[in-house]
Amino acid sequence: MIIAIDGPAASGKGTIAKYVAQVYGLHHLDTGLLYRAVGKAMLDAGHLLDDTARAIEAAIALDPKQFDENALKLQSVTEAASVVAAIPEVRQALMSYQRQFAMKTPGAVLDGRDIGTVIAPGADVKLFVVATPEVRAKRRVLELKARGEEADEKEVLADLLRRDERDSRRTAAPLKAAPDAHLLDTTHLGIDAAFRAAVAIIEAARTGRKRR
Ligand code: C5P
Repeated sequence: MIIAIDGPAASGKGTIAKYVAQVYGLHHLDTGLLYRAVGKAMLDAGHLLDDTARAIEAAIALDPKQFDENALKLQSVTEAASVVAAIPEVRQALMSYQRQFAMKTPGAVLDGRDIGTVIAPGADVKLFVVATPEVRAKRRVLELKARGEEADEKEVLADLLRRDERDSRRTAAPLKAAPDAHLLDTTHLGIDAAFRAAVAIIEAARTGRKRR
């Protein structure tokens, strides 16, 4: 079983994806880490983020086994990730890893921006997770503070909106719901309620499939 979970930053998709993977005993890939790793490699090497050739090289050279998730989640890497993610060849270079991951047995949950549209268009279940920007900013601030980072809510909100805009407007695999994705709005849901809602959607989709 392949489950695709897409949505904007801090919508809850990553937390939901981890939980769903645990419930169903599936592998989980946070695909944002791949773009973050390319962005971080560019920053570490002192390359300009619009140096397309270097970004492609960095994407080809990635080794996800070496990822330091804490370092990749730093706010300083976030913006860089969204800039390099708009480069079509960077996306292309990261595609086969994601597709192979999706094919692992007994199945996988992938979360990102283009899983249901590009990486796994044939996924068994697709969720598109959303929440208002204000609620997402509040969640991101809590998350950053828990990691020991300074976080100003207004700045975080501005960053989220800038990223939403860039991720949605780019021509290569923009952030958007697949036509057959189930929308899950977590604005008014706590974590447990969001988990229950996600599992209810997945169960309904699986039962519907079996009946057909
Ligand atoms: O999910 P996360 O916020 O960690 O992703 C960081 C950035 O990576 C996003 O803003 C987006 O530009 C990019 N990304 C993407 N496609 C994915 C996952 C992440 O373009 N599937």
